[in-house]
Amino acid sequence: MNDSQKSLQEAVKQRRTFAIISHPDAGKTTLTEKLLLYSGMIATAGMVKGRKGRKAAASDWMSMEQERGISITSSAMQFPYKDAIINVLDTPGHEDFSEDTYRTLTAADCAIMVIDAAKGVEKQTRKLFEVCRLRNIPVLTFINKMDMPGRDPLELMNEVENVLQIHSYAMNWPIGTGKDFHGVYDRVKNEYVFFSKTSHGGSQKAAIARYPANSPEAIEKIGEDIQEKLLQELDLLEIAGNPFSLEEFLEGKVTPVFFASALTNFGVEPFFDAFIDLAPCPHKRFANLLDGKEIEIDPVENPFSGYVFKLQANMDRRHRDSMAFIRICSGRFERDLTVKNVRLGKEVRLSRPHGMVAGERTTLDYAYPGDIIGVINPSHFAIGDTISLNGGFKFKPLPQFQPEIFARLISKDIGKRKSFDKGVLQLTNEGAIQLLRGYEREDDLIFAAVGKLQFEVMQYRLKDEYGVETILTPLPYECSAWIKGDMKTFVKLTNSTLVVDKQGNPMALFTSQWEKQYCIKQNPNHELVDVLV
Ligand code: G4P
Repeated sequence: MNDSQKSLQEAVKQRRTFAIISHPDAGKTTLTEKLLLYSGMIATAGMVKGRKGRKAAASDWMSMEQERGISITSSAMQFPYKDAIINVLDTPGHEDFSEDTYRTLTAADCAIMVIDAAKGVEKQTRKLFEVCRLRNIPVLTFINKMDMPGRDPLELMNEVENVLQIHSYAMNWPIGTGKDFHGVYDRVKNEYVFFSKTSHGGSQKAAIARYPANSPEAIEKIGEDIQEKLLQELDLLEIAGNPFSLEEFLEGKVTPVFFASALTNFGVEPFFDAFIDLAPCPHKRFANLLDGKEIEIDPVENPFSGYVFKLQANMDRRHRDSMAFIRICSGRFERDLTVKNVRLGKEVRLSRPHGMVAGERTTLDYAYPGDIIGVINPSHFAIGDTISLNGGFKFKPLPQFQPEIFARLISKDIGKRKSFDKGVLQLTNEGAIQLLRGYEREDDLIFAAVGKLQFEVMQYRLKDEYGVETILTPLPYECSAWIKGDMKTFVKLTNSTLVVDKQGNPMALFTSQWEKQYCIKQNPNHELVDVLV
């Protein structure tokens, strides 16, 4: 290994690239903010949130996000945490924005799943967890809001296991709950960890005191009743719980569980420290040579490569630009690097690369595997494109989820047709909305999305960014599926419609789940798939 490979290896080892997944309101924004607090990026928490008309969140960009107080677009932030370099991918929590979120997850090497202790595993968490499973992404579980009356911790562990079908291992165990939440028992170090609020509440770091197992001082602090219950539960975990191994965690077979409260900072720092220890650094990724043969791309041994997981138009209103977000998979990136885009068979110079440091766009001179760079995209990129120094291979395609909402969209003013077409092209390139064409009639355009809010955003952005007012007519389809098999023998139901997606894959649109199931029965020699992996 030469010197430049050694420094590349050092940079790779330092990096932790991950996403925080949760159902809305479980505490993802609060936890992200605390990560910024504990890394020293912000002095006090409570400043970067964008909810309820407060100052915009560090990762919020568009005015609509600020108006609505929800984070719609995915972004990435980089900052140091102790000896590590963190790349946190911000995944929109709103359920209509799931597809964007799903794609962002492919750029992560691991995920933190935040669960509200009072609510348990909720719908959106389940869907997001499924994507992690599809891509074998290891998941750490953060059970939040332990400072509030919540569900029984054992019950929560069981729910994670049963609903998500993954083994769970409690890394720590809560000592008391609600207003009696004193701290946690660290099952790895075998010690009591107590937290106390500073006079500034959760806006500043919580003080931590550690005591060894059976310390009389600790027992006195928590009282005999809580101590007895704690010992019983710890015994139960030893006897009935799963074992934990790093390998099984990395393979996505077991999730380490941490109990904490992001708002009060109780358990936050020990969690982040454990996260740095457990979470993997960027590792090998599978790719295919152009003849289909599978290969592995090593972050250190292979020269620069990456792939586009997100496109976003009009990030900078003054320039009407569009940005392609690239996850670096191997090699060192240097500004102005010329790379090959395998899909186009073209060379592209990656000039003006940007990174995000706590919401501020910065120009990058270097970047390493695991990092996310944003490059201005004069239509050189599509979602899923592989770029590399030498070309010749493609990373696995990104999963695509079946749209569930369909509509026709036209410009109110016929004279604005050109701007409409331009806006539609750029916004559908971003991938939140899919443009489908009739299977038989190419000019029959249908817009499709995974959630309703995406249409609202599309109309808003067409008006705001391209000056085009539009008329949206919802279509009666409720679900869809890609069709695998010979289209000549496919039996189409009367109410369903056949279309093709951007890549030319045939799809069927159905007016009900029942109709879809019936169609599946009518076509035993075809496969109807919900996710294109
Ligand atoms: P999200 O990004 O997952 O949607 O959740 P977010 O962090 O915005 O948190 C949702 C609500 O839950 C917020 O309250 C937040 O303060 C609260 N919260 C987060 N973590 C904890 C915790 O550990 N304990 C308690 N008790 N609450 C927590 P809000 O009323 O919606 O907003 P705000 O007025 O507090 O900002």
